[in-house]
Amino acid sequence: KLMKVFITRRIPQEGMKILAAAEGCEVSQWDSDEPVPRSELLKGVQGAHGLLCLLSDKIDQEVLDAAGPNLKVISTMSVGFDHLVLSEIKKRGIRVGYTPDVLTDATAELTVALLLATSRRLPEGVEEVKSGGWSSWKPLWLCGYGLSGSTVGIIGLGRIGKYLFRMAIAQRLLPFGVKRLLYSGRTAKSYAAEVNGEFVPLDTLTSESDFIVVSCSLTPETQGLCDKAFFSKMKKTAIFINSSRGAVVNQEDLYDALSSGQIAAAGLDVTTPEPLPTNHPLLTLKNCVVLPHIGSATYSTRGVMSALAAQNLLGGLQGSDMPSELTL
Ligand code: GLV
Ligand code: GLV
Repeated sequence: KLMKVFITRRIPQEGMKILAAAEGCEVSQWDSDEPVPRSELLKGVQGAHGLLCLLSDKIDQEVLDAAGPNLKVISTMSVGFDHLVLSEIKKRGIRVGYTPDVLTDATAELTVALLLATSRRLPEGVEEVKSGGWSSWKPLWLCGYGLSGSTVGIIGLGRIGKYLFRMAIAQRLLPFGVKRLLYSGRTAKSYAAEVNGEFVPLDTLTSESDFIVVSCSLTPETQGLCDKAFFSKMKKTAIFINSSRGAVVNQEDLYDALSSGQIAAAGLDVTTPEPLPTNHPLLTLKNCVVLPHIGSATYSTRGVMSALAAQNLLGGLQGSDMPSELTL
């Protein structure tokens, strides 16, 4: 029998091809690069058996009610799933697919790029060149902090897919000559030995690191974790990087820490809200580099993510295995 599927955005063709080739699948789509308006989402899901969504779509009770009892599977083209109200989804017996692991390399790469761009002040330098601020080679101009000999602390309280994400960041940073690699979380991890990672309490990580990288998932436990108390423990020369979810950070406290010189700089690939309004105070600071949530944005990674999301969706529709199913 015919299975109805709603896709909330234009996605890479890899995923679309898989769905087009699937028998008995009737696909409708919000065929745009811009987010589906809420009213269109509520209309689009009506009677759907499957929903393929993105991290910018809040899937809550209202959407599930609008979908009705046919809905068997929600497949999100993301590793994060904080936009899905899992308690409501579980209650209805709906299965959930997501896309861990396939974006590990791309996101780790972007995290390192953001760290280097922030610590070596690349956006400021580019701006100076464009605006005519580059008057000469100057011994004291645009100096930043290097990784060589530094201590890096990685915060990953939750698991993002397998352990690989945090490890992938560590593996990429070590060749820069990092001296100590600290990590904190619920438990020590045996695999951390591969990168000589030292398991330390969060307070130790915060006060001893030259670079702090937040790579945990957003949970009630990590919401607002990086607040005034957190930033006040950091070294004045330390740099804060977040490539997980914006809500892990209290942005007002971060603004205060950056503008008062409590910490040296911050690089964010995620914010609250997204997009960050162009008049947001953080954007007035030279020592804050903000990227538009592009951690997984390589052509190949987005292609693989869309294919995996399509396969998860089909597995859920057919009542068979999903390549990456979230355990609810
Ligand atoms: C990116 O943030 C994702 O969750 O895929
Ligand atoms: C991965 O991100 C982990 O925290 O293990």
